[in-house]
Amino acid sequence: MKLTIIGSGYVGLTTGACFAEVGHEVMCVDNDPKKIETLLAGDIPIYEPGLAEMVTSNVAAGRLKFTTDTPEGVRHGDVVFIAVPTPPNPDGSVDLKFIEKVAREISPAIDSYKVIVDKSTVPVKTGEKVAETIKRYAPDADFDVVSNPEFLREGSAVEDLMKPDRIVIGANSDRAMAAMQKVYEPFHAPVLATDIASAELIKHAANSFLALKISYINAVSAICEASGADVELVAEGIGMDKRIGRQFLNAGLGYGGSCFPKDIAAFIAISDELGVPFTLLKEVERINADQLERFLKRLREKLWVLEEKKIAVWGLAFKQNTDDIRCSVALDLVEKLVAEGAEVRAYDPKAMDRVRALPLAEKITLTDDPIAACEGAEALVVATEWPQFARADFAKVKEKMLSPLVFDGRNLLDPKTMISLGFEYQAIGRGAPIN
Ligand code: UDX
Repeated sequence: MKLTIIGSGYVGLTTGACFAEVGHEVMCVDNDPKKIETLLAGDIPIYEPGLAEMVTSNVAAGRLKFTTDTPEGVRHGDVVFIAVPTPPNPDGSVDLKFIEKVAREISPAIDSYKVIVDKSTVPVKTGEKVAETIKRYAPDADFDVVSNPEFLREGSAVEDLMKPDRIVIGANSDRAMAAMQKVYEPFHAPVLATDIASAELIKHAANSFLALKISYINAVSAICEASGADVELVAEGIGMDKRIGRQFLNAGLGYGGSCFPKDIAAFIAISDELGVPFTLLKEVERINADQLERFLKRLREKLWVLEEKKIAVWGLAFKQNTDDIRCSVALDLVEKLVAEGAEVRAYDPKAMDRVRALPLAEKITLTDDPIAACEGAEALVVATEWPQFARADFAKVKEKMLSPLVFDGRNLLDPKTMISLGFEYQAIGRGAPIN
């Protein structure tokens, strides 16, 4: 099929590449000429495992094209996906100005029947607004609006898109639904067909539930710390119940990233607006913020004063396998350490270039490898769950450090190994004495 993706960011670019991979003819549009230039030159502006290879091979096969010209994109596609950013307003509600702008811009170019698909994460009822807008600017346009939320995780986006758990299609017309079924046929995944509003809600409800699961285990981790229990064993024990499941029960510094914090705030805002406040989610947010504060308190208890203390930080991305630092708890942690006068030496396997572009970079030392970050350190903090950190040469780490104190904010390391190597090891919710 001929498909168009408007917005070539994390979601748009990966979705476009995967659609091309299964044989569709895809045109990716972006209004940032620099981004399109980069893509046309064969470079990928983001790090996402497997994406660069997929883009290169599909461009070579002529199935993936890039343009800055929105009308050209609309004329190309039978199905036009909108994958533009939906940033938060200061009150947590979603700023839909980019969606509105795209709806306006595509209207005059609709020259035949088009399915206009909202892929961006939006509050319930946005589909209605997109349809109203297109009708206002192109009263004779033949189109249907569909909601088709994405559920991809950064770091495994290609895999999530190629082998999805489910495809949710919210449409109010059989014609649009049939076109969407055809788009997704090559993926052989279960399709849930719904109305538009339900599809929009599924996205917010799914992300909020996952965040709730994380906050739940983080709240349990605080009780573990106070009582001497081990949150890893508790998570394993409750996760063995198939109704609960072990996934997303990893206690840590809290969730971050471009989705969870924003989507939960947006779900709270839309529920308030609809007159049915979702107060449970406010508690999810509170627990998440508290997790970092409790961790810092423990660090202060150990080091007494943070000012002038050399602290090594491993991990700056918001999670493993990505260079994305948006709403990264690891960065929040570094900001707070710096604000208290600590001398931070930090390392991340993929996010260094992005951090270098921040004003914060002036106030910390970025090192070329994790061992160098530990030079003279009085504490090492593991802030992102990169698996390679667990495989580090801890004998070398210990040699470099001034005092062998490790604060594992992601429960990534093996406590027994760390203790046997002579470290003082502190983690999240692992209150039981380690011997
Ligand atoms: C999330 C959803 O998983 C995805 O389905 C949706 O489309 C977009 O939002 P993503 O933001 O890429 O994906 O990351 P995810 O893997 O869900 O992790 C989010 C945050 O939660 C990270 O900061 C991670 O460190 C944290 N996390 C995750 C935990 O603290 N504990 C866990 O058990 C899982």
